[in-house]
Amino acid sequence: MQLKPETKTKIKALLERYPRRQATLLPVLHLVQEDFGYLSDEVEELVAKELDIPRAAVSEVVTFYTMFYREPIGKYHIMACHNLSCTLMGAEKLIQHLEHRLGVQSKAHLGETTEDGRFTLTRVECLGACGEAPMMQINDKYHLNLTIEKIDKILEELP
Ligand code: FES
Repeated sequence: MQLKPETKTKIKALLERYPRRQATLLPVLHLVQEDFGYLSDEVEELVAKELDIPRAAVSEVVTFYTMFYREPIGKYHIMACHNLSCTLMGAEKLIQHLEHRLGVQSKAHLGETTEDGRFTLTRVECLGACGEAPMMQINDKYHLNLTIEKIDKILEELP
């Protein structure tokens, strides 16, 4: 297992921009996760070697942030907010609908993935869009003021 040459080039550019090697970790982990889909032990080792920092420093960051994955996830990561405002606006019913429709169980931190590898359904804490609750994020995109009908339409329109 190796880092892609393009990724190595981008990491080199990042290392020139930051005062300390360790400070590049967040952008580097995003780049590497894009390449591999998730950050396995082996990938963490590659990152530590590339940045010449201890493996523990990499693991600390990977395990702290929920946007880094330690196992494979679906093509579409549905992050359904189940915090106060969303719950008050009916999030639980929507999450149950998603679970039923996709045939997976949602969980905090990282939920289950559909058998075809298309969707992972995770319950997340507040994503800062309480004014337009209930909401969910799919990969990088927010979907607001959700209803069951809206969710069905969103899922059907995904390529
Ligand atoms: S509680 Fe759901 S976005 Fe804030």
